[in-house]
Amino acid sequence: MDKLIIADAIRATEAGAIAAARLMGRGDRMGADQAAVTAMRKAMDDADISGTIVIGEGERDEAPMLFIGEQIGNPDAATAVDIAVDPLEGTNLVATGSANATAVLAAAEPGGLMHAPDTYLEKLIVGPMVTGHVDINDPAAKTLATIASRLGRNVWDITVVILERPRHEELIAEVRAAGARIKLIGDGDLTAAISVAVSGTGVHAVMGTGGAPEGVLSAAALKCLGGEIQAKFHWRSNEEKERGRRMGVDVDDAERVYFTNDLASGDNVVFCATGVTDGELLRGVRFFGGGARTHSLMMSYQGGLVRFIDTVHMWDPGNPPKVRL
Ligand code: FBP
Repeated sequence: MDKLIIADAIRATEAGAIAAARLMGRGDRMGADQAAVTAMRKAMDDADISGTIVIGEGERDEAPMLFIGEQIGNPDAATAVDIAVDPLEGTNLVATGSANATAVLAAAEPGGLMHAPDTYLEKLIVGPMVTGHVDINDPAAKTLATIASRLGRNVWDITVVILERPRHEELIAEVRAAGARIKLIGDGDLTAAISVAVSGTGVHAVMGTGGAPEGVLSAAALKCLGGEIQAKFHWRSNEEKERGRRMGVDVDDAERVYFTNDLASGDNVVFCATGVTDGELLRGVRFFGGGARTHSLMMSYQGGLVRFIDTVHMWDPGNPPKVRL
């Protein structure tokens, strides 16, 4: 299954990233998102898979394309897959030309990715050296001490990514009191989650509450990289709970901790992300006369593959641009 989906997935995230990157800095977050959605949907049209969107742009009445439950590809194809997409992770980041926006797609065998409603999850995300050694219910100071010790560092050498939101004031104060460094981000906790599991990006944990769909996509990536997410649903209203219940979430168990394998339980998990704007993990799309260059991360859990893919797209074969190293 992964061999079939990999080529289509990378084509889709590259197309989404290129389309969104065209609108960088225009102040038009909805337009950039729409461009990514349209391009990604079109790229998936020809795929020889029978795909079902399980995490997408919203419910059928909210989104014309890539809505939850939408069938994509070829309904008669022998391979059925569940697909989770975030065609533009960080709509505001593209609108302002800020770092770390990506186009993202994950896939797995049917049932292999949790059907999470578009609500919030409290998250703790760590890299492979720390997997299995932390607990989301512990105070931040204890967690940071564990991360530091697993990485052979002091707490003040650890950098935690936190979404800059009023709801995180207390968490930020706790992390500061513990002595760790903080990177406050405007958006994009999914891109940050992947970065945590890749050495050299300079970030060691993500803490705080962010989108649940981004949590499932993070789990798919972390599963491939050996990192870990622990998460708890954070319901803000009965209406959100009702949506969760309809998707099969046990909304009455507020203390349930979801681990990487609960959110991405599949054996055949595949994950792709293409950079839209430059970031610590991926370069953004670079345009030149007659083409563009993209930088992507493609991973297959079962195939044991982590590939960084640097692609030059030539749109005018009669007049090819110079290819640089
Ligand atoms: P969009 O790409 O949909 O704009 O979401 C970006 C994001 O920052 C996610 O990375 C994060 O999980 C979520 O929004 C946080 O939600 P909120 O902005 O409501 O705090």
